[in-house]
Amino acid sequence: MSETSFEIRLKSSAAEIEACLIDILHDQPQAGEIARPAPLIAAMRHGVLNGGKRLRPFLVMESAALLGGDREAALRVGAALECVHSYSLVHDDLPAMDDDDLRRGQPTVHIAYGEANAILAGDSLLTLAFDIIASPETNLIDRQKTELVLALARASGIGGMAGGQALDLAAETSAPDEAAIVTLQAMKTGALIRFACEAGAIITASSPDERRLMRTYGETIGLAFQLADDLLDLTADAQTMGKATGKDAARGKGTLVSLRGQAWAERELARLVAEAETLLAPFGDRAEVLVQAARFVANRSH
Ligand code: IPE
Ligand code: IPE
Ligand code: MG
Ligand code: MG
Ligand code: MG
Repeated sequence: MSETSFEIRLKSSAAEIEACLIDILHDQPQAGEIARPAPLIAAMRHGVLNGGKRLRPFLVMESAALLGGDREAALRVGAALECVHSYSLVHDDLPAMDDDDLRRGQPTVHIAYGEANAILAGDSLLTLAFDIIASPETNLIDRQKTELVLALARASGIGGMAGGQALDLAAETSAPDEAAIVTLQAMKTGALIRFACEAGAIITASSPDERRLMRTYGETIGLAFQLADDLLDLTADAQTMGKATGKDAARGKGTLVSLRGQAWAERELARLVAEAETLLAPFGDRAEVLVQAARFVANRSH
């Protein structure tokens, strides 16, 4: 599969995810809800329906496809994960955290709707993710739903993304060593990406070995993803990225790039991609899309 056909595939799944998210983020309260306040649903839409790469849902869908899963169910789980990811960005951009004005090429949610709505939009998106998984519209058996809820909760909370964000903020003042940076990045970014890949195995009720393999693949590309993000923060411009760049150095943030330098980071990215390819080797050609996904994560330009 060429790089271009990979990108076409990523874009076409992004369009499917976008449509699914538009459908979910409607104005009308659903059963058990009382009302959907207009400024809050608007802030949620602003945080979600704004042209992200949709890499995490893509990984859910492609992992499930590799292991023989139901595409529609994978799409819904991908949409749930994108809600968690988008919430993490809405909160990451808040003045109390990275204090950013630009996200996905648009004003951040707190700039457009105020800080209180941004906090509440994040809260509501996180909750919505679990709603989507549990909902009868997600065509999976209860056991798979429970496993997805548990894995997503662990990936998102104190031992995953949110905990990693806490460590990341502390790293602005504490000059962490390499092991500490690897841990915080595995948590703040890696955990959701690992969940994306593991979700494919959960959806398909795969064997423990396959599930472990997908987790390890997810961990590997998760590390590569944040390393690339830190590199792009140094080398890319805000227009290309759709978010401010040069901020890590400005805030004195400890990253592997600041510690080891750009040339090392580029070599490390190549090493992580090779590791991902080795992991997927047992699947042969069927894993070609996921091999390309690892390359995309490492070599992406935005
Ligand atoms: C950005 O994630 C935040 C990090 C975890 C580094 P993405 O680069 O996937 O952002 P979007 O979703 O495409 O905007
Ligand atoms: C954010 O990391 C990771 C999240 C959990 C949101 P960054 O702070 O580096 O992400 P960007 O660069 O703002 O997208
Ligand atoms: Mg941050
Ligand atoms: Mg940030
Ligand atoms: Mg960054």
